[in-house]
Amino acid sequence: MPFWIKKSRIVITCAKGTPPFLKQEIFSLGFPVLSAGKAEVETEGTLEDTLRLNLLVRTGQRVLFLLESFDVKSPDELYKRISRINWEDYIPEGSYFSVTSSVYNPSIKDSRFANVKCKDAIVDRIKEKRGQRPDTGPERNRIVVHLYWKGNIGQVFLDTSGEPLSKRGYRMISLKAPMQETLAAAVVLASAWVGGGNFINPMCGSGTLAIEAALIALGRAPGLLRSNYGFMHLKGFDESSWKVLRRKIRADSKDWLSGRIIATDIGQQAVEAAKKNAMTAGVDRFIEFGVCDFSQTPVPTNGGVVILNPEYGERMGEIENLKETYKRIGDFFKKKCQGYKGYIFTGNLDLAKKVGLRTDRRIIFFNGPIECRLLEYDLYEGSKTGK
Ligand SMILES: C[S@@+](CC[C@H](N)C(=O)[O-])C[C@H]1O[C@@H](n2cnc3c(N)ncnc32)[C@H](O)[C@@H]1O
Repeated sequence: MPFWIKKSRIVITCAKGTPPFLKQEIFSLGFPVLSAGKAEVETEGTLEDTLRLNLLVRTGQRVLFLLESFDVKSPDELYKRISRINWEDYIPEGSYFSVTSSVYNPSIKDSRFANVKCKDAIVDRIKEKRGQRPDTGPERNRIVVHLYWKGNIGQVFLDTSGEPLSKRGYRMISLKAPMQETLAAAVVLASAWVGGGNFINPMCGSGTLAIEAALIALGRAPGLLRSNYGFMHLKGFDESSWKVLRRKIRADSKDWLSGRIIATDIGQQAVEAAKKNAMTAGVDRFIEFGVCDFSQTPVPTNGGVVILNPEYGERMGEIENLKETYKRIGDFFKKKCQGYKGYIFTGNLDLAKKVGLRTDRRIIFFNGPIECRLLEYDLYEGSKTGK
């Protein structure tokens, strides 16, 4: 299928705050970075390239391959433009597809309307060409078409990921306030950890940070854990070269770590879940788990990073209790983590002040709609006390 090797723009979406890390990843994979927005980075390549991107990118959410870009002023015009695309070349007989959209147009009150127009244009085109309608619906586990419409600009993409890439497939058990896998990867990449020293993760919850850290240190592609992507359902998908690519990427990973990864939590249930998730991700033998108060987490003397993602509390009562926890994190950093870089990921900066240590860096992230910070502390002997 010639369209598999035709170059086009590729937009990779990500959480707000993470484009700098995604840019770095795209660049390291040998792709150009054409532009970056608040929650996406643009590169270019072929549909074939999206296989590698889906497998290897850690901080991206969806890999969107641009099919057409056009001027559009009304829903009818949108329908016409979309019906001109050769959908019969992309969508095999007897398939199912869904449409997602991002619409920023004052004349469209409900983006579902633009979705339906887009879906109808595709269905009508295929029916006209084949005499048979494809199935459609909301599920994103097969072909996904993405419509972007802002002002007079319309863009139609194939969402080659299908389900978002944050669904790596290892988090079988999720507890209260888990961090999205792609965000956890960005947080680990933002830290000073390069895989050599120790990675200490008290308050590990369902283990996302520790698991992402292990995957990064081992050079394991996060996408290898998943068996279904949007691109697999497109016409001309070559299963045998996909298998070869997976095998090659798998062979590139390491099977040993020079530092230790230690993950603990006060909740027995959390640690059990984290262990199971790590097992599904195939990294359980690289992580030492334990049930304890964070202050009792073993911290080897040879340095590395220590990262905590404490709760940030929504109700007043919770916040009062958490003040003491944040203060104790400061004591733990000072007393037990000398020689480390310390990190706290939180959405509550008032609570963070209770840590009582001076931050060296503050990196903005968004956990869903909540603006958060990754606070970095340099924990050398006799750390500076807070402002
Ligand atoms: C926001 S969750 C962490 C979520 C985690 N990043 C994930 O992706 O699943 C906070 C965790 O801190 C744990 N926790 C709360 N107080 C603790 C304490 N004093 N010592 C250790 N862990 C504690 C909770 O059990 C909870 O699992």
